[in-house]
Amino acid sequence: MDGMTSPTTQQAALAARYGAATPPAGPWNATIAGMVEHRSVRGYRPDPLPPGTLETLVAAAQSAATSSNLQTWSVVEVADSAARAVMTEVAGNQQHILECPLFLVFLADVGRNERMGIAEGKPLEGTPFLEAFLVASIDAALAAQNAVVAAESLGLSTVYIGALRNDTQRVAATLGLPPGTAGVFGLCVGYPKAGAEGEVKPRLPQSTILHRGRYDASGETAARAAYDAEMSAFSQRNEMAADTWTARVIARNGTIKALRGRDMLAAALRALGFPLK
Ligand SMILES: Cc1cc2nc3c(=O)[nH]c(=O)nc-3n(C[C@H](O)[C@H](O)[C@H](O)COP(=O)(O)O)c2cc1C
Repeated sequence: MDGMTSPTTQQAALAARYGAATPPAGPWNATIAGMVEHRSVRGYRPDPLPPGTLETLVAAAQSAATSSNLQTWSVVEVADSAARAVMTEVAGNQQHILECPLFLVFLADVGRNERMGIAEGKPLEGTPFLEAFLVASIDAALAAQNAVVAAESLGLSTVYIGALRNDTQRVAATLGLPPGTAGVFGLCVGYPKAGAEGEVKPRLPQSTILHRGRYDASGETAARAAYDAEMSAFSQRNEMAADTWTARVIARNGTIKALRGRDMLAAALRALGFPLK
């Protein structure tokens, strides 16, 4: 499709992503179009996925870059309905976890390499550090995003479920995770219910995110005001509540209570075998 995408399609995709702050059109192809048109979906039909879809998504996920090729991530497919019910409850009753035909939990997994070190008589001195958990979480996120891009290219929809971290230890107990592993987020995959796809959600103007040479926060107040207007119109069209982005960030991060238990994450991770030194 390279070179065949019409400028109108590219312009329309960028306008949907940025509203009035649409960046200038640059190189474009079907891969980029798919990424720019991403949206999370929170309602799924029960239709099963074609045979082999999970394995294809995992091949895409394992093809992501991984720090030093350590491959410190794993993924659990959660098909059992009792386990799905626990995930749904942990995540504040998000019904799409029950609905979707495929639910995955991506793990930061340092434990596998630690077991290898012990088996080789060379226990790993380098893994009790925060660095190892960060590397494993980055690996898990890169892998998952490859799976998301692959899924969307197949006409499937997805939504990440970070709310599993509301109770990381309950997730670990339910999935039988060994020491040195923790669920960092879930992922729903499936075909969207009619009307569940929604619009592409606008993002902050590039001037806020992209810095050239030196970080420059001078334009961010004006850019945020413009983005608030975009998000408030988006919310009204899609969710019936004209919330600004500013209000949503304050609601999400303004109080410890709003973290819904995730303020205890360091303690939970230590209990699961990540000393985070
Ligand atoms: C790591 C991560 C965790 C997320 N957790 C949730 C979640 O628990 N529930 C949910 O409905 N959406 C969740 N999301 C989806 C975000 O809310 C969504 O990506 C964001 O609002 C932007 O919307 P879009 O993906 O449609 O562009 C999560 C996204 C990420 C990247």
